[in-house]
Amino acid sequence: MASESILIRGPRVIDPAQGLDKVADILVRGGKVAAIGRIPSDEVPEDCRVIEAGGLVASPGFIDIHCHLREPGFEYKETIATGTRAAARGGFTTVCCMPNTEPPIDNAAVVEFIKERSRAEGVVRVFPIGCVTKGRRGKELSEMEELAAAGVVAFSDDGDPVYDANIMRLSLTYSADLGLPISNHCQDRALSRNGVMAEGWTATRLGLPGIPAAAEETMAARDISLAELTGGRLHLAHVSTAGTVPLLRQAKERGVPVTAEVCPHHLTLTDRWVLGARGEVTGAAGPQAYDTYTKVYPPLRSRQDVEALARALAEGVIDCIATDHAPHDLTSKQGTYQEAAFGISVLETALGSALQLVHRGHLTLGALVERLTVGPARVLGPAFAELATLKPGTPADIVLFDPAREWVVDPAEFASKGVNTPLQGTTLKGKVVATLVQGRVVFSETPDEIGAR
Ligand code: DOR
Repeated sequence: MASESILIRGPRVIDPAQGLDKVADILVRGGKVAAIGRIPSDEVPEDCRVIEAGGLVASPGFIDIHCHLREPGFEYKETIATGTRAAARGGFTTVCCMPNTEPPIDNAAVVEFIKERSRAEGVVRVFPIGCVTKGRRGKELSEMEELAAAGVVAFSDDGDPVYDANIMRLSLTYSADLGLPISNHCQDRALSRNGVMAEGWTATRLGLPGIPAAAEETMAARDISLAELTGGRLHLAHVSTAGTVPLLRQAKERGVPVTAEVCPHHLTLTDRWVLGARGEVTGAAGPQAYDTYTKVYPPLRSRQDVEALARALAEGVIDCIATDHAPHDLTSKQGTYQEAAFGISVLETALGSALQLVHRGHLTLGALVERLTVGPARVLGPAFAELATLKPGTPADIVLFDPAREWVVDPAEFASKGVNTPLQGTTLKGKVVATLVQGRVVFSETPDEIGAR
């Protein structure tokens, strides 16, 4: 990576790991943070590139512990090259990719392939997540030790739950020894059956089969019991229901080793969005045709769920925000709601969506940054702490964003191949302006202006 010197002049620096929230300059040298504070002009190295960042926020780059990069196997939906560029545009400097690829990430060779492709084509740090079970088939445990030795940072069969309770127990037992979390997609299929959206008024009105909240909550309760039994590190992926929150809260109070994430869409959108027209059903015409871009697993839920999740995130009961970025090709999203694939393209809208919580007063800006940096790093383990701070000497993974800038979502501008967002045409407030990984600018909104002295 390039190691030029960069001076980021005058942003509001928010670094929750250091309890820092103040206007300061950041000097980057040799890919690392060299200094933070007031840096007088005569101390700026001669060949230093200067980024004028007055009015912007600078924070450690965001860490996404849950995204789908689709490579290998589904390169028509996303690649490591396009997915990491989407991450950079979203302010993420580290992403962890889920193993529902083809072949799945259930052996060291696939882990090596992803690491190699990421080195060659990626612009942000990529850490693979390995399968809990061989082939994600849920029948027998994967070679977890082999996967850990190859460099996976967690285990998951995401897209599917670890359905067999005894396999979940065994994986948690191993996770205690390996020191890596098991991220489970909690969804009892006996309850969710052929459901395609949240059970409730909207599903009934549309005549679509619903998924009850209990499908998530019963499995979350089971997994918490198993984490308590084994001492293994449980992580609940994409929590979507109000009822999961007290389970988590009580488990944490008992000292169970459990963490959880929530997605930007579950924090901001309700199941009314399934109706199309952004959930604003007005007039005699009633709803438009449903919007398959709202189809996601777990599904968008009620206003009460959305509010409970925002509160749980603010209180720290939910540890972090993760995107569940799930890009799909157009054909996968055409047809009926039942036929369409589950998933939303999220990386490039995550910050703007999550900032709604700050603008509405549910969360401070510092807490939001914490849930995008320190929170996810804590889930991954102590080795990741240095990627979640701007302490001098740590890697210069930095995002610069304007929390007040309004912009209209136009998926044609996405770096992701996945244009499947229900937010098309909506206005978000808060935009990433530049992203640095190891001191290198990997995204800049105004590439020509940045660097002008
Ligand atoms: O909506 C989803 N899409 N949820 C998942 O769990 C999997 C993901 C995908 O891979 O498309």
